[in-house]
Amino acid sequence: MEGCSAFLVVSTCLLLLTGGARTIQVVEEPGLHVAENGTVTEIILDCPYILEENDNSGLTIKWYQVGNPIPVYQWIVSSSPPQALGILEGRLDLSYKASEDENHRHRALKIINPSTELSGQYQCKISTFDDEKDYLQKLIIYSKPQVVEVWTEQREDNVVTVVCEVDQVYPQPNLHLCQRSADSDCINLSGVKEVNSWSRGSYNMTVEREVHEDTLDGLTTFECVVTIPDTKVEMLDHTKYQPRLQVQDPEEVKIGGGSEVHSAMTVLVGIALLAVWRV
Ligand SMILES: *[C@@H]1O[C@H](CO)[C@@H](O)[C@H](O)[C@H]1NC(C)=O
Ligand SMILES: *[C@@H]1O[C@H](CO)[C@@H](O)[C@H](O)[C@H]1NC(C)=O
Ligand SMILES: *[C@@H]1O[C@H](CO)[C@@H](O)[C@H](O)[C@H]1NC(C)=O
Repeated sequence: MEGCSAFLVVSTCLLLLTGGARTIQVVEEPGLHVAENGTVTEIILDCPYILEENDNSGLTIKWYQVGNPIPVYQWIVSSSPPQALGILEGRLDLSYKASEDENHRHRALKIINPSTELSGQYQCKISTFDDEKDYLQKLIIYSKPQVVEVWTEQREDNVVTVVCEVDQVYPQPNLHLCQRSADSDCINLSGVKEVNSWSRGSYNMTVEREVHEDTLDGLTTFECVVTIPDTKVEMLDHTKYQPRLQVQDPEEVKIGGGSEVHSAMTVLVGIALLAVWRV
């Protein structure tokens, strides 16, 4: 208890001595903005701060893309209008006002027609002569895969290779394979081999996994589930596989499918006849 109050006295003294050096406060949690490519006309990344004692001497707002030391935006509050730089040049509405307050007016980025290549982590740095604070905003502009396809290949005896491919997706997705027999849950297949290719701003990705036929229990469904981190995107495809070792003849599966269609037709015809009969 005593230690604590001593600490308070000391820190208060320090604060008074240094003229209250901590003048900028950022109270909000880091932000996350997610949108599908081509579906939104603007996104605003704000840079919220509080200036204690309204001390704006030397107040400058700079935005960076994390990992790049050169700013993508800067606004020197007392002396110059906001400026977009680097990757954001030509991509911002520089007349946007986050607030009418002169110390906050141009603190935010208003990105026009955000597209996948602007995805990333943006950090604003708020600085005065006395203090400096950061705030992080993550921007994800995603593009769903054009194609999600899973299939099986028989490359050697008694082994089936399950392959799943997605085309032209951004950012890099997660692909999971699972297998299901009869009504069981889909069991994840671990240790998949992954191949990525990157071209003109998107990923193609393939995963594959060998499965020994003697581990399969009859007709098996392989599923491929594609998700994009930080988004709600989830797409899937599935394929059915009849192991060769099984006593059951693969032909029977086809015949089974055919007779289902057949019985559905019978029911339809039956309903039609019934309708005619009732009139
Ligand atoms: C299987 O994979 C899915 C998708 O990644 C995951 O959510 C789930 O927890 C996994 N299940 C098991 C049993 O590992
Ligand atoms: C990705 O897939 C698309 C469509 O299949 C194809 O046109 C393109 O060349 C592929 N890109 C790469 C880098 O493999
Ligand atoms: C995102 O949209 C832009 C045009 O709005 C397009 O040029 C770009 O190829 C798209 N990105 C992806 C990964 O599809």
